[in-house]
This record gives sequence, C-alpha cells and structure tokens, in this order.
Amino acid sequence: MRVIFALVMLCSVFAASSAAEPRRLSLMPMPASVQAKTGQLVVDSSFSVGISGYSDARLQRAVELFLDSLRRQTGMPPLDMQVTDAAQAKLVVHSERAGKDVQEVGEDESYSLEISPGGARLDAVTPLGIMRGLQTFLQLVQPTSDGFAVPAIVIQDSPRFPWRGLMIDVGRHFIPLEVLKRNLDGMAAVKLNVFHWHLSENQGFRVESKKFPKLHEMGSDGLYYTQDEVRDLIAYARDRGIRVVPEFDMPGHSTAWFVGYPELASGPGPYRIERKWGIFDPAMDPTKEQTYKFLDGFIGEMAKLFPDQYFHIGGDEVNRKQWDTNPNVQAFMRAHGLKGNQDLQAYFNTRVQKIVSKHGKTMVGWDEILRPDLPKDIIVQSWRGQDSLAAAAKQGYRGLLSFGYYVDLMWPASKHYAVDPISGAAANLSPEEKQRILGGEACMWSEYVSPENTDSRIWPRTAAIAERLWSAQDVTEVDSMYRRLEDVSQWLDWLGLAHNSSYEPMLRRIAGSDDISALRTFTDVVEPVKDYTREEIAAVEATSLSPLNRVIDAARPESVTARHFGDLVDALIAGRADADAKQQVRGFLTRWRDNQTDLQSLEAQSFLLKEIVPLSRDLSEVATAGLQALDYIDRGERAPEGWATQQFALLEQAQKPKAQLLLMVAPSVQKLVEASAGRKAPAPQE
Ligand code: ACM
Repeated sequence: MRVIFALVMLCSVFAASSAAEPRRLSLMPMPASVQAKTGQLVVDSSFSVGISGYSDARLQRAVELFLDSLRRQTGMPPLDMQVTDAAQAKLVVHSERAGKDVQEVGEDESYSLEISPGGARLDAVTPLGIMRGLQTFLQLVQPTSDGFAVPAIVIQDSPRFPWRGLMIDVGRHFIPLEVLKRNLDGMAAVKLNVFHWHLSENQGFRVESKKFPKLHEMGSDGLYYTQDEVRDLIAYARDRGIRVVPEFDMPGHSTAWFVGYPELASGPGPYRIERKWGIFDPAMDPTKEQTYKFLDGFIGEMAKLFPDQYFHIGGDEVNRKQWDTNPNVQAFMRAHGLKGNQDLQAYFNTRVQKIVSKHGKTMVGWDEILRPDLPKDIIVQSWRGQDSLAAAAKQGYRGLLSFGYYVDLMWPASKHYAVDPISGAAANLSPEEKQRILGGEACMWSEYVSPENTDSRIWPRTAAIAERLWSAQDVTEVDSMYRRLEDVSQWLDWLGLAHNSSYEPMLRRIAGSDDISALRTFTDVVEPVKDYTREEIAAVEATSLSPLNRVIDAARPESVTARHFGDLVDALIAGRADADAKQQVRGFLTRWRDNQTDLQSLEAQSFLLKEIVPLSRDLSEVATAGLQALDYIDRGERAPEGWATQQFALLEQAQKPKAQLLLMVAPSVQKLVEASAGRKAPAPQE
C-alpha cells in the first residue's frame, strides 16, 4: 500500500504543480519505493551521461542504448546527448562491480535513482541494475511546456521475483530474428529478464544443428535460425539484461524432428511437417538406446550454443498413442516394471535429465514432468495452475507460473494482472516453500501469429504481467495499471515495437483502400474470441498455411475504446458523469450507429470485409439501442417493458461471436438499457 499511496500522492503533486513540470508518472513496473521531490531536471540536447565506478563494454553499450532510446523518445538528433566525464554529466551511473559472465537467476538487479534539478545519479551493484534503472529514467522523461524533463524523485527498486520471462513459440509460426529483437527491447523496457525460446514443435524445428542437419533441413521449411543468428540474439539479449533459455520439446510435440530422423519416433512413419494445430501422436521412442545417444549428441551441441544454465525439455501433452500401439514399447515397459505411460515418460525424463546435467545444464520442463524421482534442482513450469506449482514447491522443486499468463488466449490485461504466482494453493506454502517459486513467464503460443501481428499479441498486455512479477504483491490497482499501460504502450512505439504501427497497414489491406475510417471504427471495438474458441468455432479448420490477414488478426486482444466507453457508462449510471462525459457517450454511440453505412460502401471492395458485415450491423443496432436508452435516462422516464425486452434479445444476439470476433461495447450498452428499464437483462439462453 505504501507504494500506491506514494504514487497517488505523486500524481496529485504533479497535477497541482506548475505547468512547466511533468504532468504524470507512468512507471511500469511500479518501483518498490518512490519519493517525489521538488523541481525537475531538464533533458535537452546538452544532456549527457557519465560512468563512474566500475565500467565494462556491456555497461558502455547499455548507456549508448539508453541514449539511443532517449533520442527516439525526444526526437533529438544523434549527435546530441553524449557520454562524457562523470564530473560534467547530467546523469551519472555508478556500479560497483561486473555482473556474471553468463547472467544468473537471482543476480542482483536492484538500483537506486536520485534525480534533482541539478543532475541525476543511478547506483547499482552491477551493470544489470544500471540497465533496469536506465529504463526507469526513460519512463520518467516527458514533454513539459519548457522542454523535455524528468521530475525530481528518489527511487529505490528491486524485483519481487528473480525469473520474469516471456516465452515465444517460433515452432508453429517462424518469427524472424528482427521481430524477436524488437520484442527483446520491449522486454527490457518492462524489466523482464528471461526470453524462453520455444524452438521446436510438430510444425517446425527452428535451429540449425551441425550434428544432425536433417533436423533443420527437413523439419523447418527453410525457416530456422543459423547458429550465428542464435549467438547474435543471445548477445543482443545479454546487452539488455535478458537470459535466453532454449526449449526443445520432447518426447511429444516433436513431429518436425522425425521428418529427418524417423528412427527417433515410436511409430514407423514416414513423417511430414505437421500443418494442423493440436496434439499429435508422434512421440520419441523412450525405450531405444539410440534415442538417448541422439539426444546426448544434440543436447551437447545445443548446450554449447546456449550459454544459459537452464535447458527446457518441454515434456507437455504427450498423448502416448504411439507407445500404446508399439509392441516393443509395451514389452520394454513390462520388462522394466513400468506400470503405465506416465511411468514411461518419467523414465524418459530421468534419462534426459542425466544427459542435460552431463552437459552442465539444469533441466526445466512443463508441469507434466513433475515426479519425485527427479533431482531437486530441476525447475517445473506450471501451465495448468497454481496447484501444480504448489505441489512442486512442497516436494522441494523450484517452479515458474505460466498458467494465467498465456497471452495467446486474448484475455484483458486485468485478468492476467490478477494472477499472482503466490496465490491459490501457493498462498498456503511455508516461507521456505514460497522461496522456491522463482516467478513466471508470459507465453506467446503462435498458432495465429505472424511477424506482422506478434507484437500486438504480446504488447502492451505483457507489461501488466511484467509488473505482477517485478512489483510488490500489493500493487494491484487496476485503474492505475490501465492508465500507465496506455502510456507504456505509446512509449513502446518509440522503442520500435510494432503493436500499434502494424494496425493500420493491416486494416488498409483488409479494406483494399486507404479509406479505413469505418473499418477502424469497427475494429477498434471488437476483440478476437477468447481462450481456444477460435478453433472451436472455425468454419474452416486453420492450419499453419492459413493466411493471417483477417479482421481477427488485426483486432487488438483488448479494445481500449471499449474499456474507455465502459468506464464512461459506469460513471454515467452511477451519476458521476459530467455533461462532457455524457456527451462523449452519445458521441461514441452516434458514430457506431452510423458506421455501418460507411462500412457497407467498402464491402464490395474486398472479400476480407464480407465476414464482418453482420457484426457491423449489430454494432449499429446496439448503438441505436444505447442512444434510445440514453434518451429515456435523460428524460427521467422508465423505458417501456416491450422495448427493453426487444433490446435485451438484440444484445444477447450481438454478444455471440461473429467472424470469431466479439463486440466489446455490447455489455456496456446492455448496462444502459438495464438502467433505462430499471431491470436486469435475463440470463442468456444457451
Ligand atoms: C503447454 O501449453 N502445453 C505448455
């Protein structure tokens, strides 16, 4: 609460301060302690940074990267704002000693930042803390009436959890290196420190293997990273204080391996790169020594390529059908007293763990791998809930939470934000057991992701997850989160993320026209269906070859417009809305009512527009209902029963997905109709 209080104070301090001072703070993740001071430090073309204390090439690059971001944020030319002597610098960064050669879990990331009108000082034990503090400084830079400035402030900060990750699945859809790099920039901006690179899937094997070249040659459609590219990405990540943990999923999710090496599989093959989505039968043969010999060679090669201490072996969702139907596997299980397929997978995991360990690495796996016979140094990543995380911690294993952080499920940021690693069953753990929960990872599974829309699936919502993992557990205020998230989203634009900048080009393609105002008005208030509904209601089964060029692929996972409208409607119904807010509600509804006419005139231009026409019609009708409800409310009349019943039916219908999209303003209009009629809508009919 202390932090929240400080921030609320701070916001009001700035709101009341002179026009020359920054208007508000949008720090995300919220630092551990923030104290506002008087005045501000001007950031102009004479701004300079000096390094005192320990220095190395990585720290110098971090300062250069910082200046580069600052130039982008302020639009200042590249020759301005230099690195100078600490004695003359406006910002002095001071660290005591080198960070680890290979970044470690729990390596000190703390920093303190003190800004006064005369200058600023950033202190940290190592360059890693400096990197975190430099991002905080960037978030403080704002235009004022006198130029750019940062407020005078004292910040002490350190993370709540040592493992704060983002997983990107490049197996289902290949994601080019430059897209990954800009997402690493986004990660660094919100202080995430682990890039979990999900590198193999049924649909693709994405790393060059010199030992087993048929893996990438036959398993990737030519879409893979060379080892040089992998090294390049790891160096890029290191410069941003990010560890890179590779995942090679086994024994399931592994069809792409078998295209080149069918002898690894438990069934006869031949195998082709999988194009469909789902869980498939092919699985490695855990009974053959040849499998372990191969994995020894492969893991040995990858252990050298990836310097991080941790090596993820997947282990999730093995359907075991090939094991059930292979007589050799069945005979092996009988001979070894393995009672079922779970025992067989445990046997496999034990063997693989020994190989991973032999190559100097510590094994990580999804929660299916959890079995008490594995050594206690492994890490369990829970995608199925806090219960399995708590179970792991109780048995002495360290764990990571990803359940609740799947950004492919298109949840609102608030829903991810409410998920805490130490909640549910994990809340009842002993302090020692809680210590074993290292943090969590947002997960970007890539069935419906292209280079064009990856960023918009990850950002800005992942910043809210980053705050959950960095900031104090009591930083939970949703309105504050959303206010800051909007600013962070715009800040990420300057850093080169494409979550906003790819939107309009996608809409122009869909419209077949430069005139996208009607399409934009529509797309601004819809969201893709949630969870796994996209598969469930697909008219045609999607595959990895399906184009990702529909409105659902451009629509944001969370509609900012719908949320703003919802806030206005809530205020209006609660009697808190002023005339301006009421006018805004009316303005929105009027625009939506009339939008269908404009959108219809585009319809003939592009086949990609056809599927949204029914939902666009719904938007128009829903907005009409909202305007009528407002009229009743304004006149102080109760809406007639028959009218309300009709509107409720319309609203129920309009809230069903169409073109796999949801009309996100319908629930707020329903509230208006309910308020006007003095009764709740009936529960929806299934
Ligand atoms: C997973 O979602 N199967 C890890």
